[in-house]
Amino acid sequence: MVIMADPIFTVRAPSNIALVKYMGKRDASSNLPENPSLSMTLDGLCSLAQIECRSSGDAGIRWVPELPLGTSSLSGFSAAPQVPDLSEAGAAKVTRHVSRVQKAVSEIFPAFGLVARDVPASQSWFVRTANTFPPASGIASSASSFAALTLVTAWACAEDPVDFEKRWKDSGDFRAALAQLSRLGSGSSCRSMDGPFVKWQDADVSVAKSAFHLPVPVPALAHFVLVVSSRAKAVSSSDAHVQVKTSPLWNGRVERACARVQELERALAAGDLTAIAKIAWSESWEMHSLFHTCAEPFSYWQPGTMVALQELSVALRESSPPVVTLDAGPNVHVIVEASKSAEWETRLNRIATAIGGGAFLLKDRPSQGATLISREVL
Ligand code: PMV
Repeated sequence: MVIMADPIFTVRAPSNIALVKYMGKRDASSNLPENPSLSMTLDGLCSLAQIECRSSGDAGIRWVPELPLGTSSLSGFSAAPQVPDLSEAGAAKVTRHVSRVQKAVSEIFPAFGLVARDVPASQSWFVRTANTFPPASGIASSASSFAALTLVTAWACAEDPVDFEKRWKDSGDFRAALAQLSRLGSGSSCRSMDGPFVKWQDADVSVAKSAFHLPVPVPALAHFVLVVSSRAKAVSSSDAHVQVKTSPLWNGRVERACARVQELERALAAGDLTAIAKIAWSESWEMHSLFHTCAEPFSYWQPGTMVALQELSVALRESSPPVVTLDAGPNVHVIVEASKSAEWETRLNRIATAIGGGAFLLKDRPSQGATLISREVL
């Protein structure tokens, strides 16, 4: 089937929170990690991406600072979608990735019985993105936005978008092949295509083989982010990936992360939240210790981070401890059994009040990963 003129594609992709972290690249140009990582895919903390293909207008790919059309009535987000405030370089990164995906799909599609259409050189592509993180939440959006951009571009490139929809729904290998492509834009975005728990290993063979559903008898979970500060990061994650290797604690890091991933897989398979909490706590401290001890030490922590960690370290000794982890930022992620969500919401709100300075709580839950929202023809 040949696609009709001027179609408009919209998708959403959630962020993910790593329990064993990707920190340190083996190959910077292709975002290959030094060690395997394992994350939980989120749901309402997500990005929307839209591509409008127009047969008229200036040819080329353009990021437009507008909310994706027709998404204002959508629900199920952590906050109302907002257009990110992208710099010129940020917008260029977006269009470069869309162009990369446009070119790469012709090599990926045939293995899945799909055909990539010839995008006419005269066509203009308008790219719109939005994040459902409150703008002051200090939450990095690169994982969710690059996953969303990869998926929407691939969909827009399919000769038969209906076949694409079927493949996306039915084939874990296809989702993983697109995850691998997403990795080139942002490493951690490759773990947002699928869910609820995704392991990313090396990728020499392919992310496809390792981004998989674990047989998880873990109880239903709730996820919170205690947002203690919304200041912009002083050190980008790209710089952090380089800096960590100068820490004396880098020695043995890869082996420890490998062992932790194995331990975590066993804990997930056994539904052992207490073991998961222990692993996540050690891993989070290890990543931040790498930051604190590298040749030019830096810290993402704010005073509120310490208040939260102090309180939560006590909770770690309870019979159902929370899973606590930090990303490369000052905010504290807490995962608990959904049945205890109300109790934890109260506890974490109390910590937010003690921290003051506008600290607040975001609530989310695990999901199955990125989804196709709509395909329309104008
Ligand atoms: O995907 P990047 O290059 O922004 O790396 C982010 C890595 C961490 O978020 C700090 C950890 C992880 O595994 O997600």
